This record gives sequence, C-alpha cells and structure tokens, in this order.
Amino acid sequence: MATHPAPRFPDGFLWGVSTSAHQIEGAVQLREPSVWDVFTAGPGRVKDGSTAAVACDHYHRYREDVALLADLGVDAYRFSVSWPRVNSPGGLDFYDRLVDALRAAGVRPVPTLFHWDLPAGLDWLERDTASRFARYVSVVADRLGDRVDKWITLNEPAEHTLLGHALGAHAPGGELLFDALPVAHHQLLAHGLAVRALRASGATDVGIANSHGPTWPASDGPADREAADLYDVLLNRLFADPVLTGRYPDGIGELMPGDVPADLKIIAEPLDWYGVNYYAPARVGAPRGAETGFGGLTLPAELPFSVRGIEDRPRTDSGWPVVPEGLTELLTGFRDRYGDRLPPIVITENGCAYDGLDDQDRITYLDGHVRALHRALEAGVDVRGYFVWSLLDNFEWAEGYARRFGLVHVDFATLERTPKASYRWFRDLLRRQGRRTR
Ligand code: FCB
Repeated sequence: MATHPAPRFPDGFLWGVSTSAHQIEGAVQLREPSVWDVFTAGPGRVKDGSTAAVACDHYHRYREDVALLADLGVDAYRFSVSWPRVNSPGGLDFYDRLVDALRAAGVRPVPTLFHWDLPAGLDWLERDTASRFARYVSVVADRLGDRVDKWITLNEPAEHTLLGHALGAHAPGGELLFDALPVAHHQLLAHGLAVRALRASGATDVGIANSHGPTWPASDGPADREAADLYDVLLNRLFADPVLTGRYPDGIGELMPGDVPADLKIIAEPLDWYGVNYYAPARVGAPRGAETGFGGLTLPAELPFSVRGIEDRPRTDSGWPVVPEGLTELLTGFRDRYGDRLPPIVITENGCAYDGLDDQDRITYLDGHVRALHRALEAGVDVRGYFVWSLLDNFEWAEGYARRFGLVHVDFATLERTPKASYRWFRDLLRRQGRRTR
C-alpha cells in the first residue's frame, strides 16, 4: 500500500467514477430488450448463469447511488444511456431524473451513448445501424443537452467487435473472426455521425471511450514482432487512427465496406477530448497452432497471433496483470504517435476485480495507476481527467457477478451498498486534491 500521498494534479482536473446501464440498472421489464438480454437468456453464456434483470437495481435506487457519489466527492459521474430504454415509454424520464439528481448533488453528468446494449433486432453488421444511432443520439441530446455538456459517443468499439462479433464471448455472440471488421467500421461511422448530431444540438465537449493498452512482443524475433504489430493494429490503431487521423492503418481500409474515404471524413470529426480505458498491456507472439487463453477467453488456433501471460506481475481476480507503468507508456506513446492530432486525454476507465470489503489490493492498483498517470502529465501528456471503473460491483458481462470492480460492495441478495476501503481511500485522495464531500 502507498506510504506517501499521491501527487497533486492540476486545478480543474476531472475526477470521477464510471458505470454502464446494462451492468447496473436492472428494471429490464420497463424497457425493450437489448442484444445482451437475448444473449444471456441462452445457456452457458454467462459463467454464473446470471442475467442483468435486476443487477444493482440502480433504476430504482439511483438516489442512494447519487448520495454515494456526493459523499465520495467526485467531480463527475460517467454512466451510460440505454438505447432500448430510450426507445421505451418513459425511458428518457429516468435519465432526466438521474441528471437532475446529479446536478443537485454537484456532480457533473457524463453520459456514454452506447455501452454495448444495442436494441435487440438491430445489428452492427448493418450500415443503417449507424444512422439509427445518430437519430437516437439527437433525441437524447435534445432532451438532456440543457443540463449535460460532456458527452461520450461509444464505449470500447474494439471489445464490442472482438468479443461480441469475432469471438462470440459477448452479445450478440457472433463468431465471425475477421469477417467482423464491418462491425468496427459501422460503429466508427456511428461515432462520427453522433459527433455531428451532438454538435447540431449545441454540444461543445464531446469524446469517445476507446480501450487501449501497450502491446509487448513476446520476443525480439521477427515472427513475434510481426504478430504483436498486427495485434496492436487490430486492438489499438484500428480504433484510434481513423478517429484521430482520418485514416485506417495500412491494409485495413480495403477490408471495410462502403465508401470508406467518405466515411473516414465523418469518422474523423474533430473531438474535444479523447477517452482512454486502460486495464493492462498485452504480451503477444507468433501463433502457436493451438488455442490460447486470454483474460478468461479461449482464442482460436487460426488467429495470426497468440496472447501470452505476463507472468512476473501480480494478477487481479480476473487474471489481468497489474502493470501501472503501462499507463505511462501508453500515454507517452500516444502523444508520440499522434502529436498535434491528439486532443486532451481523459482516462474514462481504470480499475480491477478483487473481492472483499477491505480491498487493499484495489488500493494498491489504483494508487499505482494514479501515480503512473501523473508521470505521464510530467512527461508533457495533456491528460484532463481520471475515472475509476467502477462505482459499484455490477454485472460484469460474461463473468456475471463473480468479478467485483466496485469501490462500493453490492450484496446481490439484498442490494445493500457498503463502501469498501478503496472508496475511503479514493475519497481521501480527492480531499487532498481539494474536493469535498457534498
Ligand atoms: C471494460 C468495459 C466495462 C467493464 C470493464 C471491467 O472493458 O468497458 O464495461 O466491463 O471493462
């Protein structure tokens, strides 16, 4: 555990916590189904056989959760708006109430407009889903835009493409491998169209939340380096390059559907900031002709790379290695790669799965990452905010309720919330940064 206080961050730095609709809201009977409801109804999809039907019941308990945010002293709260709920009678009223409660508590609302819960019946393989998304975004922005100024278009289109459409581990369960690439293109197009829709409604503070991590070749040999480079292209650059530079990495644009040059102009709409979700680096080598494990997943043998373990590090309960300096490496690498094209960065997610109320391991993880973030600032990277994943223990997708990422413990039998040691640690950190319980 840390023995000395975390360094001081600049005035105006945005401290927050993140959640997403499907993982916390529950109240599924009050909205139309999403691809996740359909997916989890299938046998063997979620490890503990659970669904998000109730989750944290945040839909009914949001006032209690807003009180936890106010007591924590965060500047901002990142949540997601459920597109299926907005499609349902009274759905937007919930976000009205939530936004009003947050503002009354002095917490800035930062909605994400898509965090994987696509309305059932829609499909990112269809180009039209991007235009539908933009129309939905206009509806939300017209309703909430008088009280919300900071917006996030998409959460992690990389994971949604890879896990949901290429490997079948997440909803909607597609196992298309490289044929899933149109899903990436259509989400990126949806992002660009959403930026335009938000601008049209007057928004001036718009970003995206992309997942990124350094890719470390398993060795200096050419086969490992080539495999690691391909992995880096697919997981990092495929989603950052078009947004930040208006180009796909070499060899990728040709694989995408539609009028790609025209779409790239939309995808590269200038952003006010760029959100990075960081959890861990990946060590990647040449294919081994056999299935490999990857964060609880089994990767098929035919992929042109294999993901190796990072053995010399502690691991979280989800098996992810703890590598705080990977965050400094990632951010300085981004600055070097994208230069002037890189807007200010906000860390939109960072966190870890550990059990227990006295979660010293989480404190060690977060403390290490906050310090690593500060080193990136010292190295001249323009970082404007940091959001912990997550406020609450919640429905961790295919892992069900078995992975606890919250600063606040949730008893899923009684739905009682209990702040953990890490909640108090974060509150102390925020106090030292000049924030107060409200
Ligand atoms: C990210 C997701 C988020 C949560 C964390 C642990 O990939 O955006 O919803 O599941 O991982």
